[in-house]
Amino acid sequence: MSAPIVPVLPETLALAVEILSDGGLVAMPTETVYGLAADASNPEAVVRLYEAKGRPRFNPLIAHVSGLPMAMREAVFSPLAASLAQEFWPGPLTLVLPVIPGGTVCDLARSGLQTVGLRCPSHMAANALIKEFDRPVVAPSANRSGHVSPTRADHVAADLADRIELILDGGPCDVGIESTIIAVEGDIVTLLRSGAVPADRLEAFIGKPLIRASGAGISAPGMLKSHYAPKARLRLNADAPEPGEGYLGFGPGVREGLNLSPEGDLAEAATKLFAMLRALDMRFDRIAIAPIPEEGLGEAINDRLARAAHRDS
Ligand code: TXA
Ligand code: MG
Repeated sequence: MSAPIVPVLPETLALAVEILSDGGLVAMPTETVYGLAADASNPEAVVRLYEAKGRPRFNPLIAHVSGLPMAMREAVFSPLAASLAQEFWPGPLTLVLPVIPGGTVCDLARSGLQTVGLRCPSHMAANALIKEFDRPVVAPSANRSGHVSPTRADHVAADLADRIELILDGGPCDVGIESTIIAVEGDIVTLLRSGAVPADRLEAFIGKPLIRASGAGISAPGMLKSHYAPKARLRLNADAPEPGEGYLGFGPGVREGLNLSPEGDLAEAATKLFAMLRALDMRFDRIAIAPIPEEGLGEAINDRLARAAHRDS
């Protein structure tokens, strides 16, 4: 059976809450990418979630909350962690913090770690759903594990329609690239995944450079090298396509293929990245991609492109 795709309305949100309460899976729009939501406190629901995505269980999930009060029931907030939440929530920043005794996010959702990833999405539909559900939902990106993240409801349907109960359609995601993930221990802040909040904005707020987790990533088990993988072979930093290649351009003067942003705007490029990769992947075996400046959101875009291009052996 295929999950219905429904608009976000009071009655569809009520249906979604009912499904979550019964241990079911609901795809919801967020400002970054679509998430696949399940009751964070229900290990059976979380098992179903890992299975639907084909996700390795050593890769922990982000618990999504409606605000700081709900988050504080799950984790220990240092003064710096609390001020980061105050500044950047609701919005695309995930905080990895020590779990608090009595927290409701189940062990399996955290892959047994003594930390929990928390994020308060700014998208109205996600926020309303969590408020009505009245406790955290875990929500990985709503794609099969290793695939490109979904920024539209039809992307979710293409990957997961026969494995989940409901898809809430909130239109295309505003930001288009996943949240930035930082671990905060006291006043030490480590960047685990670059994302929608540029590192320089965080550094300006905390007044010092972020510590950058090494690629091996004991602390960020989900950061597998090969990820976001299209079927096509990717060639990065290409100024022009070769014969037979699809082309993903950036900036003015691109005459072939698709263009992430003719104006050279990185925010626009982030919004379009995953949808254009999916579109080219359907038509080409090989895709060449223009160089993207490594500044602001460009860091997250280049991180995703490097993972998309990586082939294990
Ligand atoms: O923007 C986003 O963050 C989206 C939307 C749906 O909210 N979600 C998302 O989830 O990207 P997912 O599951 O695709 O990526 C979550 C990442 C994984 O790399 C995972 O390893 C990391 O968060 N993570 C979660 N909890 C963690 C923890 N306790 N310690 C270290 N890394 C953690
Ligand atoms: Mg993901």
